[in-house]
Amino acid sequence: MARRAIVAANWKMNGDLALVDAMTAGLKTVALQDNVNVVICPSAPYLSSLVTQANVQSLNSAIAVGAQNVSEHESGAYTGEVSTQMLNELSVKFVIIGHSERRSYYKETSTQVAHKVNAALSAGLTPILCIGESEEERATEQTETVLASQLQPVIDEVGIEKFIDVVIAYEPVWAIGTGKTASSEMAQETHQFIRQFLAQANESVAAKVPLLYGGSVNASNCEELFAQADIDGGLIGGASLHVEQFKTICSAAKGK
Ligand code: 13P
Repeated sequence: MARRAIVAANWKMNGDLALVDAMTAGLKTVALQDNVNVVICPSAPYLSSLVTQANVQSLNSAIAVGAQNVSEHESGAYTGEVSTQMLNELSVKFVIIGHSERRSYYKETSTQVAHKVNAALSAGLTPILCIGESEEERATEQTETVLASQLQPVIDEVGIEKFIDVVIAYEPVWAIGTGKTASSEMAQETHQFIRQFLAQANESVAAKVPLLYGGSVNASNCEELFAQADIDGGLIGGASLHVEQFKTICSAAKGK
């Protein structure tokens, strides 16, 4: 069974046109192993430049552009929002949905996240669905309950069969931007739980969904994390702003 690996860069509200140029120029020489996709997700104003520069540099077709968020609505009076159709028009292929920063600062609920995943899938975009527990939830042994409560509304809304086109990023909130990475054993254990949870709904779909780990992934710890049986790459924050570090992380990923 071939399951692709994905390394996605989440620039968050960082980066500029100079980074768009440096990253696309740098990725021209990145060495990717078999069955690996790389996705760069800048802030919305840079999507268009990134697509253009990726074309100018004739980047490997395994390298795509993603957005960090999308509206669940088709169009209309939603000031500040970006629609799936707009992303399609720009040749954006992926979209991060339900990042913990959006869930906590912008009060996105799992129901709204499910609507967004549905909208993305309907438009032919690949959602990178983010889930993860807080430090307190981990300490009080609620991790599995929390992850199930974040996944189930999406399964209920779009149906498990559609997960064949979904990427899941497990990002423990306490590991994001803190330098505190989950140990590879802990990350594997949680990824295995996520896959088993999906398998209860559909085993063959579960076996094919790429599960990414996110939270303080860097050039030094990526290899060990990516070697775990159920970890199919990463969603990278801070380290994705540094071209050489990011390239090292991309090269460490391998399809399973
Ligand atoms: P860091 O890699 O900076 O910890 O961020 C992880 C993340 O939130 C990616 O979406």
